[in-house]
Amino acid sequence: MTRNVRLGVNIDHVATLRNARGGMDPNILQMALAVEEAGADGVTIHLREDRRHIRDADVDLLITHLRTPMNLEIAATDTMIEIAARVRPHAVCLVPEHRLEVTTEGGLDVAGQSDRITACTNALKALGIRVSLFIDPNPAQIDAAAATGAPVIELHTGEYANASHRDERAIQLMTLTEAVGRAKRLGLEVHAGHGLTKFNVKPVAAIAGIEELNIGHSLVARALMVGLPVAVGEFKQLIREAVTGC
Ligand code: PXP
Repeated sequence: MTRNVRLGVNIDHVATLRNARGGMDPNILQMALAVEEAGADGVTIHLREDRRHIRDADVDLLITHLRTPMNLEIAATDTMIEIAARVRPHAVCLVPEHRLEVTTEGGLDVAGQSDRITACTNALKALGIRVSLFIDPNPAQIDAAAATGAPVIELHTGEYANASHRDERAIQLMTLTEAVGRAKRLGLEVHAGHGLTKFNVKPVAAIAGIEELNIGHSLVARALMVGLPVAVGEFKQLIREAVTGC
């Protein structure tokens, strides 16, 4: 049977564009529904502490209307866990957050704050929310993630995406492949994301064991050229080709 790799579309940058002028355009709900209709398997949003793109009202609106699972990315803080407890998304992905970063830089240091991450994981699991930890493809972080009891990790693909030379990209791909193997042996479900584009997504999608990819910036950027439904369809097709090998 062909492996299915789900595509979660991160629509944060629809909100970035809307916020540039205030008002409602582009309409986040309309865009989310278009993403779903185009075949995305889920919608991902990151409610940052500084609310620079997605806002609380967006989360409330989307949770009411989405037909696919919502994956809510949040920092591991008490305030964010309270919001997740109120919203009850299908999934929460715990991510690191630094106020001055342009986007999520590097994975969560689970090994360095295992008590806090375990407490957040337990609180979310008790609510029936699937917890995933966004970590670098690093053995110590994978082991620490498994020890928290979180059922899922999302591997940060930024180093792979940023590799400018073919040899460096191959090394980063090997690191990701080994990380997936280690995580699977520990019983974790494995997702991946960050910096994935039309041009680099296939080798990651082809790694056996990866079950979901979360893609935002390059897909929304591509949508400016071809429209959101086409952009989602293109990424779905690339992932399908990577999985089936043709
Ligand atoms: N996964 C996580 C956990 C993220 O924080 C992000 C960026 O917000 C993504 C995936 C998507 O990254 P990109 O926007 O580079 O596709």
